[in-house]
Amino acid sequence: MPGPEKTRLIIVDDVADTRESIRRMLQFEPAIEVIGSARSGREAIDLAVQSRPDVVLMDINMPDIDGITATETIRRQSPFTQVVMLSVQSDASYMRRAMLAGARDFLPKPPVLDELVSAILRAGQMAREERAKAAETAALTGGVTGPLPGMNGQSGQVIVVYSPKGGAGTTTLATNLAVSLHSKEQRAVIVDASLQYGDVSVFLNEQAKNTIYDLALRAEELDPDVVRSVMVTHQPTGLHILACPPRPESAVEVRGEHFARILEFLRQAYTYIVVDTSPFLSEPVQVALDQANLIVLVTTQEIAAIKSTSQFLNLTDDSDIAREQILLVMNKHDRKIAITPEKVGENLRQPVSAVIPADERQVITSINRGVPFVLDPKPSPVARAVKELADLVRDRVTAASAEAA
Ligand SMILES: Nc1ncnc2c1ncn2[C@@H]1O[C@H](COP(=O)(O)OP(=O)(O)O)[C@@H](O)[C@H]1O
Ligand SMILES: [Mg+2]
Repeated sequence: MPGPEKTRLIIVDDVADTRESIRRMLQFEPAIEVIGSARSGREAIDLAVQSRPDVVLMDINMPDIDGITATETIRRQSPFTQVVMLSVQSDASYMRRAMLAGARDFLPKPPVLDELVSAILRAGQMAREERAKAAETAALTGGVTGPLPGMNGQSGQVIVVYSPKGGAGTTTLATNLAVSLHSKEQRAVIVDASLQYGDVSVFLNEQAKNTIYDLALRAEELDPDVVRSVMVTHQPTGLHILACPPRPESAVEVRGEHFARILEFLRQAYTYIVVDTSPFLSEPVQVALDQANLIVLVTTQEIAAIKSTSQFLNLTDDSDIAREQILLVMNKHDRKIAITPEKVGENLRQPVSAVIPADERQVITSINRGVPFVLDPKPSPVARAVKELADLVRDRVTAASAEAA
């Protein structure tokens, strides 16, 4: 019978004595196997990529690449590998930087045997869990995430769903709209540009292994293989999802210019690029709005939402965005509330083009199940309204692109 899986470890330190003494400390630990050691950040990266250890014990100060930078690179290239930092500095800013780089744990130098062993075993356990999760996702998606449509030089339509007011239903509408627009012939992708706390993959009940963060890092060298490798496939429909970064602090790494390149690339591969956004006008959200063929602007019957929508329209009036590029939608509509779509349209000098009824039970259940309501076998009034919205969006962008041609 095979024993419990050993934690495979790499020791990284520029001082030979330190490497040796740690190796000696661990030589009688049955659950830990030291598979190699490295003298610098660069060596550590090469070795980690080659041997895919469970855990790296990492010194901070080293010649060439320091431990924090090496940690970041290793975590990116071998995502399940966990890093335990070893340092004489117990400085909070160091720790913070190391944590942001993806370090799992911290130990003082020189380490105490018990602490060292338990930190390595904990990290090893985590590595095995993450590896198993990744294998599961790969099995689900058959290793690849489905075909990326031919790069046939088509000019896909960017449809940005936006609301200046959080909670108006932007993500609800974006996900249901993307699912409605997608077909085998006219493929759609949904891009989660709500970069910090995006929830598109939650709404669609899929787990993202790779995200837009991985594309941003390679924005200069995008090709179909790279893009295919980061796309998540919505299993029930085949819709592609470009998920938001796994951690909120990575959001700032996705810059406006990255986002512009990504959108440009996706236009060549998909018929519809649906972008979910956050109210905050981050660089990427601004880029998305600037590049949009159509902005689906979501408001509700609340005064605060209408006020913010009015402010947003003033902003677009001052930019190159034409009113024809905006499709105003009233979500969560309740006939008992006196603020009617007509009044809102007059007030904003922009007609409400679609009204989606409020149906809390239906919508929340759909979000919690991770099944977009437009997929329900018996379409409810909300589902019918969103399907009509999808038809309207399709007509609008088709007409606009025909006119442009
Ligand atoms: N048509 C609707 N009727 C009832 N509740 C809705 C409707 N659309 C969205 N909601 C609810 O509003 C909340 C916020 O939705 P969400 O799509 O996350 O908004 P946003 O992305 O704009 O922050 C969710 O709890 C959702 O269930
Ligand atoms: Mg949202």
